[in-house]
Amino acid sequence: MNPSRRTFIRSAAAFAAFPMLPGFSARALPRFQLGPNQRLQLAKVAVGGMGESDLEELSKHPNVDIVALCDVDGRGKEKYATKFPKAQWFNDWREMFDKLGNKFDAVSVSTPDHMHAPISMSAMNIGKHVYCQKPLAHSAYENRMLADFAKGHPKIVTQMGTQRSAMIGRRQQLELLNDNVIGKIKFIHAWSDRPMGWWPQGKPMPTGGETPPEWLAWDLWLGVAPTRPFVPHAYAPFMWRGTYDFGCGALGDMGCHILDYPFMAAKLGLPISVRCDCTDATEDEFPTKETITLKYAATDRTVAEGVTVTWYDGGLRPTNDRLGIPDGVDIRGNASVVIGEKGVMLCPLDPEQVLSDEPLVWDNKKTPVKLNLPKLEPRNHYFHWVDGCFGKTTPQANFAFAGLMCESLSVGAAASHFANRELQYDPKNFTFVNEPLGAQYLKTKYRNGWSVKGLA
Ligand SMILES: NC(=O)c1ccc[n+]([C@@H]2O[C@H](COP(=O)([O-])OP(=O)(O)OC[C@H]3O[C@@H](n4cnc5c(N)ncnc54)[C@H](O)[C@@H]3O)[C@@H](O)[C@H]2O)c1
Repeated sequence: MNPSRRTFIRSAAAFAAFPMLPGFSARALPRFQLGPNQRLQLAKVAVGGMGESDLEELSKHPNVDIVALCDVDGRGKEKYATKFPKAQWFNDWREMFDKLGNKFDAVSVSTPDHMHAPISMSAMNIGKHVYCQKPLAHSAYENRMLADFAKGHPKIVTQMGTQRSAMIGRRQQLELLNDNVIGKIKFIHAWSDRPMGWWPQGKPMPTGGETPPEWLAWDLWLGVAPTRPFVPHAYAPFMWRGTYDFGCGALGDMGCHILDYPFMAAKLGLPISVRCDCTDATEDEFPTKETITLKYAATDRTVAEGVTVTWYDGGLRPTNDRLGIPDGVDIRGNASVVIGEKGVMLCPLDPEQVLSDEPLVWDNKKTPVKLNLPKLEPRNHYFHWVDGCFGKTTPQANFAFAGLMCESLSVGAAASHFANRELQYDPKNFTFVNEPLGAQYLKTKYRNGWSVKGLA
């Protein structure tokens, strides 16, 4: 075990029982709710790809100081040296937490999916507020653990990076659903045009392997995942999404953006069962296209029979007729349709459509329903979280909600290992009742040498 790893475990254990923190100054005490004259000291994990946007957006908040930057790609150090001259640079987030943990209040995580939970949980273990990219975590178990921790520590302010959910048009969708415009919810259909050409899926594990470039700490990139050789352009950047060890496929990638408000409006809990229809999943990668069906128990916002959520990707889509919307309505791209007792509502991911005059709700005879769109104030998803750290807001995509929804996405993703079969979810034991092999995908094991308090 290298020294930084050893000290990380030691300090994480010490912090875990906060607020008593042996060896740390008063400043190291978690500040939780910041006072009006304070500034949020932010540590950024991952500064490339979406991490660059997250860094830019968060640093625009007038009360945020960027005090630490971390990326396994060392090229970021020079790139940000001028813009954030006071920020210390790290390759290894564990070292950053260990050495600088008493200097920051909050952490933003924008790594590939498989590292979201280890980093976010480690940050919460030492009392930091966390903004973590979507999907919240890689496995069902990780999602639950993050949600439970967040629920048990309400002073820690959390937000999943679904920045589109702040757009007025999307929030109007939720308000309309909550206003019972279509009645109690019966079915939710959602689809995405990914992965088609965005990243590879349905292929065996890439062969070959090269020495990684000197600027890339490949072993740290792999993190908790099993070791595999570095293959240029196969995984980093961006292409890891369709690989089981690192990503959550198209459902995990886009489902968070598309399903959040339908899920919230129906007040769904954990799925009862799941079925993935697909033909070309491999041991290493998600299938190129799939239909995933998740069934849920009834809530006070659904019909008594409960709700079925059907997800389509890779070019698959339901017909307009099946959705109960008129022929000719263009449903390409990324969207959901929520079917209620009184009618149906189309919820496009591009909210501009909602703000236009186009009817997006139809009654059971496919007649457009005239809508009174609620007037909503603009909201900035990033600032909403920062302001939450100052006690001014409650972020909507907090980990309690995000973990609950993303557990469903993890269950859906795991079902592609057992194609074309209905599987009963066992949420107590993180497995499938009728397929015990599901456990290895629903609660993935971390590589030897990696362990995080609060996660296996
Ligand atoms: N909210 C959105 O609209 C949106 C859009 C794109 C991506 N994302 C999410 O952002 C995350 C990153 O996706 P991406 O497309 O930017 O991936 P990417 O591969 O392009 O970039 C990932 C970045 O993280 C760095 N990194 C990898 N492992 C790291 C580690 N252990 N510690 C520190 N840095 C590490 C990489 O070097 C790189 O800079 C994903 O979870 C993805 O789902 C969200």
